[in-house]
Amino acid sequence: MDERMISAEMQNEEYTMEYSLRPRYFAEYIGQNQIKENLKVFIEAAKLRSEALDHVLLYGPPGLGKTTLSAIIANELGVKMKMTSGPAIERPGDLAAILTGLSEGDVLFIDEIHRLARSVEEVLYPAMEDYSLDIVIGKGPEAKSVRLDLPPFTLVGATTRAGMLSAPLRDRFGVVSRLQYYTTDELTYIVMRAAEIFEVEIREEGAAEIARRSRGTPRIANRLLKRVRDFAQVWGDGVITGETACQALERIQVDKMGLDDIDHKLIFSIMDTFRGGPVGLDTLAATISEESATIEDVYEPYLMQIGFLQRTPRGRMVTAQAYHYFGREVPGA
Ligand code: ADE
Repeated sequence: MDERMISAEMQNEEYTMEYSLRPRYFAEYIGQNQIKENLKVFIEAAKLRSEALDHVLLYGPPGLGKTTLSAIIANELGVKMKMTSGPAIERPGDLAAILTGLSEGDVLFIDEIHRLARSVEEVLYPAMEDYSLDIVIGKGPEAKSVRLDLPPFTLVGATTRAGMLSAPLRDRFGVVSRLQYYTTDELTYIVMRAAEIFEVEIREEGAAEIARRSRGTPRIANRLLKRVRDFAQVWGDGVITGETACQALERIQVDKMGLDDIDHKLIFSIMDTFRGGPVGLDTLAATISEESATIEDVYEPYLMQIGFLQRTPRGRMVTAQAYHYFGREVPGA
């Protein structure tokens, strides 16, 4: 990560905490076992051959640990990681500056890589393929193209939407991994680990209650842990038991399945306004005043995973399972 960025953000206590929460090596990283075991082999092989690791694409819903995994890859390789994002690289020159600043074997992490400008993507192709950079010097008839050699490096790209990557870019990644939602057991461990770092006393049932309501997502689990800790401190002796966790989570309107008020609004809107669907994404977004992209990237994947929502060619539909969960009758049943 850019040094300037660390010092600016380290002033924010919340950030410092988040940062210390992140596992730094595979041994500390819980879950995503298949991805982890495969990456270990690829990393060891690259080290044995003294080569840069092949480029890695990580995709999946937000909060599952794409940035963390990238930092672990760099740590396990024993190299530095530079971090940027698709929208931050506005011009080809910005990317050229980043690439020429890399040292041999370094990891370049590009978050939201599906948002790279076309002109920037074109500079990235030869960089990924041959570690070379074609730059144009001068303008008009005097312009000359110069080829620069780059040190071998590893690009780690992250995206919530692999489908939005152009085919030529996707094809240049040697390793493509899709992150999965975490199981309740995995999240329970993650919450226990975070509680230890925060020095909060927690019972296993407390951690499990938080885990069950975290939509399979460590980022949410850690956020809920902090809120539950607040209630535990103010209500009692600061110890998080199953009961405190349950009461605190009800208070902040995170239900038994981890659904929050926006999930509820989304589901009830389809049930009540569109008779269970199908309804188009944009219509739905306008009805509940959310961005279509947020619904698509953040809310829908989990609702589909738990079988409450279906995507059909004619639009989104609520399932019978969702009606049952909310104690409602399935229309027409
Ligand atoms: N904190 C956030 N994600 C984690 C993970 N996968 N393993 C351990 N701690 C974490």
